[in-house]
Amino acid sequence: MNIRKLGHSEPPPLNLLLLADPSIVFIKDYLNRGDTYIAELNGEIIAAYILLAARPGTCEIVNIAVSEKHQGAGIGRKLLQHAIKLAFQNGNKTLEIGTGNSSIGQLALYQKCGFRITGVDKDFFVRHYKEDIFENEIQCRDMIRLSMDLER
Ligand code: ACO
Repeated sequence: MNIRKLGHSEPPPLNLLLLADPSIVFIKDYLNRGDTYIAELNGEIIAAYILLAARPGTCEIVNIAVSEKHQGAGIGRKLLQHAIKLAFQNGNKTLEIGTGNSSIGQLALYQKCGFRITGVDKDFFVRHYKEDIFENEIQCRDMIRLSMDLER
């Protein structure tokens, strides 16, 4: 598997990015403002993430997705490790990520990779998404904010 930056003229893997976020409006905004990285296996894009400069010294992984047939095989963890290294090499001090209160597996993965919970954006998903979102029989209402200090 090879991870590389998506070229400006290449079409973004929207189907993958929509697995992580049902809002095409948000995704297009992130694609415009951030850098997209893709993971390829035998010429097929199987995973992607978008890294966004949030403010000076801080960037955020605003979307991360692995194709359904490749989930659970350690690829998400590899992408997170790639993003952590890249954010550090780019001189950032902090890397952030956010996910829904109902995203139990994602919350487990991010904490296993070293992210710590810093806050809750209450009712983020209720305010910004037209449709109700349910996962693990829990309504996704709040965004759990996590961050990581990048070591010098
Ligand atoms: N409880 C505890 N641990 C869990 C659970 C759970 N319910 N679910 C998953 N995990 C852990 C696994 O044990 C594993 O840890 P391990 O490596 O120590 O065994 C880890 O989470 C899964 O790791 P990977 O196999 O690397 O994960 P994967 O390749 O499936 O990628 C991802 C994770 C990106 C969340 C993928 O499943 C996906 O694309 N899901 C749909 C889209 C999505 O939800 N994206 C994130 C939205 S938030 C955002 O984009 C910022």
